[in-house]
Amino acid sequence: MPETCTLQVEPTTLKSPFSYGSMLGVVRGTVMREKAASGQGNQGQNAKTLRVLVIHGPNLNLLGEREPEVYGRTKLRDIDRELKRLGKELGLTVDTFQSNSEGAIVDRIQKARGRADLILINPGAYTHTSIAIRDAFAAIAVPVIEVHLSNVYKREPFRHHSTIADLVVGRIMGFGAESYYLALRAAANLLAPKGT
Ligand code: DQA
Repeated sequence: MPETCTLQVEPTTLKSPFSYGSMLGVVRGTVMREKAASGQGNQGQNAKTLRVLVIHGPNLNLLGEREPEVYGRTKLRDIDRELKRLGKELGLTVDTFQSNSEGAIVDRIQKARGRADLILINPGAYTHTSIAIRDAFAAIAVPVIEVHLSNVYKREPFRHHSTIADLVVGRIMGFGAESYYLALRAAANLLAPKGT
C-alpha cells in the first residue's frame, strides 16, 4: 500500500448524452424482465448474472515492480484474482483486461457494449490524454467507475486532469490495490436491484 491514502470518491454531475440513472434503469430493467420471464418475480433466483469488466491501462502489467513506493507491491495478477474472488462474493462475474495500447482499450470498450453491466477502468497515463477512450465511453451506454492506485492530486499537475472524469459515475483513488476492491463494492451497490 502506498503511503498516500486519500479517498477521492466523486459522484459526478453527468454532462454526457446518456445519464447514469437511465443507464442503471436499463440494467435493472433487464434484470427485472428476465426475472419476470422466468416467473421468479423479485425472489432473486435465476436473475441475470451481472458482469463487471475491469480494464487496466498502460504499464499496469508491471505492478509490483514499477515504482512500488507509489503503486504498492501487489502484482496485477493478484489484483485480478482478488477481484474475481470478491466478485463471486458480491454476486458479480468479473472479467479483466490489460493493454498498453490505446486502440486495444478502445476495442475492448466497444466490445463491452450490451455485454458488460458496468466497467471499472484504471486508464493509467491515458487518463490524462486520451480523447479516444473518452469517446468510446460516450458511445456505449455502460456506467463507468474510474480507479487509480495513487492519489493523482498529490502528484504532478499533469496528472490532475482526467479526460473521463465528467462521464464516470464516480472516481476512487489513493488506496493502492484496495482502490479496485472499493470500486467493485461500489459497483455491486450500484447494480443491486432496488426495492427487493
Ligand atoms: C495511475 C496514475 C496515472 O497518473 C499513471 O500514469 C498510472 C497509474 C494510478 O493508478 O495511480 O499509470 O493511473
